[in-house]
Amino acid sequence: MRRREFLQISAGSIAVTALRGIPQVPERPALRELAGAKNLLVGSAFSFAQMARPEMAALLAQQCSIMVCENELKWGPTQPERDRYEFEHADAMVVFAEAHGQKVRGHNLCWHQSNPAWLETTITPGNAAALLRQHILVVAGRYRGKIHSWDVVNEAIHLEDQNAGGLRNSVWLKNLGEGYIELAFRAAAEADPGAILTYNDFGMEHDAPDQERKRNAVLGLLRGLRARGAPVQALGIQSHLTAHLVPPRFHELHGFLKELGKMGLRVFITEMDVDDRDLPADVAKRDRMVAGLYRDYLRTVLAHDHVRAVLTWGLADRGTWLDAYHPRGDGQKKRPLPFDAELHAKPAFAAMCEAIAECPARSEERV
Ligand code: G3I
Repeated sequence: MRRREFLQISAGSIAVTALRGIPQVPERPALRELAGAKNLLVGSAFSFAQMARPEMAALLAQQCSIMVCENELKWGPTQPERDRYEFEHADAMVVFAEAHGQKVRGHNLCWHQSNPAWLETTITPGNAAALLRQHILVVAGRYRGKIHSWDVVNEAIHLEDQNAGGLRNSVWLKNLGEGYIELAFRAAAEADPGAILTYNDFGMEHDAPDQERKRNAVLGLLRGLRARGAPVQALGIQSHLTAHLVPPRFHELHGFLKELGKMGLRVFITEMDVDDRDLPADVAKRDRMVAGLYRDYLRTVLAHDHVRAVLTWGLADRGTWLDAYHPRGDGQKKRPLPFDAELHAKPAFAAMCEAIAECPARSEERV
């Protein structure tokens, strides 16, 4: 049996195991049931390794109606060499999601990070368009009809680089200019016309001057794309929040979300987690403060009908990217997600359930 077939079968069997062995989260319906009643999708990023852990697979299956591969669909893993593509892990993860009736987000087709070494040394202004277009046609084409939404371009705005439009310095901007973004969206639309094509970025959530400047730059980017007829249909707000002793405020986010609605864009909360690095060491206190932030933030964004999906960047604390990002001074592991490392529901899970249960139902349309 070829390795690919083995992985497909194993993903399917994990799926079956998950369906059989789902640990019941006590006293609450699953997130996906609560969200489904509101025509909202809720889910998480996951990795191939997490999928292979039966108890983790079971929890993901139980709680999520939409999934996203944390890393397996990025440039480096999918095109490790110019003439070689690798999809075994991503294929198995898509099979897993389909086996559980879950939608799949694609992440991502164009980014300044996680590019393979060959790209940085091979790309020139003369071949860049063909390299980007071919990658997108191959990767998005492979999953045509299977992807709910693609993060076509990720994190293209970085005001500190002081480029026109606030664009981030990247291998793409350097070799193609600002037109790389429209090129990427048009290639994605050609590869998978049924996917919701999304621009995804971070640092737009809080009431803060720098985040307001970023929101304005993102609006400018989206308006420019729309003016040129580029097929961008959604904004992904990553929502990597940081908890402080004085909770952040999200009042300015309402105006931003209204502007996006006026443009006819859907909004996805694509990578939510809460960095507790500045919170006290006491776990119970930290968990309560993190839960408060989940509640405040989700109440804010779910007040807007065009917010159609909420995904956390992982479902359980074990393996969160945040442990390597500004580690806590006391050396403790961070606790950013709805479930702890032992897969026990935390106050943040209850906060998510409450915010979803109390939010208005999304109007009936394609999610
Ligand atoms: O798979 C290789 C492994 O073979 C190798 O031995 C190991 C050591 O070099 O690296 C492994 O790849 C790592 C990968 O995660 C899988 O674990 C990469 O080095 C590492 O850079 C990568 O980090 C990811 C990061 O994006 C960069 O791609 C994080 O897991 C992931 O959580 C993070 O997610 C990003 C979103 O894509 C975009 N938004 C921000 C978010 C957080 O940074």
